[in-house]
Amino acid sequence: VEAALAEGPLAGRHILVTSGPTHEPIDPVRYIANRSSGAQGTAIAAALMALGARVTFVTGPASVPPPAGATVIRVETAREMLAAVEDALPADAAILAAAVADWHVVNAATSKVKKGAGGMPALHFAENPDILRTLSHAPNRPPLVVGFAAETNDVIAHATAKRARKGCDWIVANDVSPATGIMGGTENEVTVIRAEGAEAWPRMTKDAVARRLAQAVAAALAGNPD
Ligand code: CTP
Ligand code: CA
Repeated sequence: VEAALAEGPLAGRHILVTSGPTHEPIDPVRYIANRSSGAQGTAIAAALMALGARVTFVTGPASVPPPAGATVIRVETAREMLAAVEDALPADAAILAAAVADWHVVNAATSKVKKGAGGMPALHFAENPDILRTLSHAPNRPPLVVGFAAETNDVIAHATAKRARKGCDWIVANDVSPATGIMGGTENEVTVIRAEGAEAWPRMTKDAVARRLAQAVAAALAGNPD
């Protein structure tokens, strides 16, 4: 499917976007998840396509539909998401907006866990692969790698440390503490952290954040400071 526009500042560019939560199975009928709706990642993919990019959209089980015109790869777990991201390369840029679970259940059951004399079963966890960090150090790393940092406190400090730890180019940081209403809402208020420093954007809709981010990606790939 050739959905890319012939025109626009991102024409001819392939951009990888991850979005949504991941689900980590406990047994065949239960899983561990998080509150990500996939709204911001979906809006970013749509905004990139509006500027002419061809988008591969790797998504966990999101509550909003994927953007029309993208190549959609549906995954469930973080481990599946990493494999799908690696399969989607090469790309000119990668925007990893997914809310990836940090752990998976090592002793997930192959049949439904039943109540019984044993009481509540113990779950044992192992850390998931870090997709952003892995991609940032890959031999076929996209020239521009963008991560997100959803924090509830000390947002800039945590996000700046995260950028260094992951080895990505930009981190889009936001405060998702409940009082902000950002998690699950239609608005976002982000600070973009680059090598040059932090740039705070005003509060705006998630669609407007997506459009501004897509413009910044286009400028960076064109070699322009923005
Ligand atoms: N991320 C990822 N793979 C993971 C965890 C996170 O690719 N296993 C990515 C997210 O998509 C996001 C960025 O890393 O772009 C930051 O995610 P975050 O959860 O804030 O970072 P963590 O390193 O998991 O740190 P924390 O302990 O704060 O959760
Ligand atoms: Ca995390």
